[in-house]
Amino acid sequence: MRASAPGKAFLFGEHAVVYGRHALVTAINLRCYVDVSKGSSIRITSPLGTTSLDFEVHPYVSFAIKRFSEIEKINGVNVKIESEIPVASGLGSSAAVTVATLAALDAEFEAGLDKEDVFELARKVELDVQGVGSGTDPFVSTFGGAWQIPERKPISLDMEFLVVDTGEKSITSEMVGGVAERRKVMPEVYEKIFDAIDVVSIEAIKNVSNQENYPELFRINQALLKAIGVSSRKIEELIEKLDEFGIAAKLTGAGGGGCVIGIGQEDKLMNAAQKFGGMIVRAEKEGVRVEQ
Ligand code: MEV
Repeated sequence: MRASAPGKAFLFGEHAVVYGRHALVTAINLRCYVDVSKGSSIRITSPLGTTSLDFEVHPYVSFAIKRFSEIEKINGVNVKIESEIPVASGLGSSAAVTVATLAALDAEFEAGLDKEDVFELARKVELDVQGVGSGTDPFVSTFGGAWQIPERKPISLDMEFLVVDTGEKSITSEMVGGVAERRKVMPEVYEKIFDAIDVVSIEAIKNVSNQENYPELFRINQALLKAIGVSSRKIEELIEKLDEFGIAAKLTGAGGGGCVIGIGQEDKLMNAAQKFGGMIVRAEKEGVRVEQ
């Protein structure tokens, strides 16, 4: 059986969301596809190679199989992964592969899981691998659409934006861990910055149907992310160059590298996509699905 799940983009509020503040997040129209068939041993195949259960090379898929097998006995299974979502780039590729694997396993082994079950398992896998996380990535990948977090209130969002990869890897556990360390040293300062990000996210959520102030809110959110140490020289340089093209941009997801998202007029987005090797991505309504 084959299943797929979408990636996601934080428009506002990453990191602060780990500390209970608001965020605006949407699924995107890039998906991860996972094929699952019963077999005599466990084989996981991806662009990284073929392995058995391997918590180093294929941590998310391996933990997904482990968690699923606590519900349904697995003797052997072949898992094949194809993804449109750039890896370690802030676009939720880890959550998408986890969610799609769980849904494909469910379909193949007829375990009768619903989306809530898939999300709960994917949430456990996120914690198995990363040790930390707000659960937003697996939630959005499972259910699709755009959401106000932490309330998990659906938001109607019809939007296109530019995504450009810095080429630097973004490792969520490291970035979230770094913020936690720095917050320990200056808790009051960090709490105030999270509060400021919270206000930015709330303002963005209020204005979702008329996004005139989004460029300014992007700039402010980016400055606050830089303040908590999750930007990078490459991210800042890229944002500056995009600004010259009339595009407001910020990092998305854990940062430290990964992708920058940008908004602006359609022709400017197209121009910049060509110039910087980026792509135009759309907010996506559909979450995980079993492919026919
Ligand atoms: C990662 O996509 C977003 C973070 O806020 C971590 C999380 O919410 O789990 C950095």
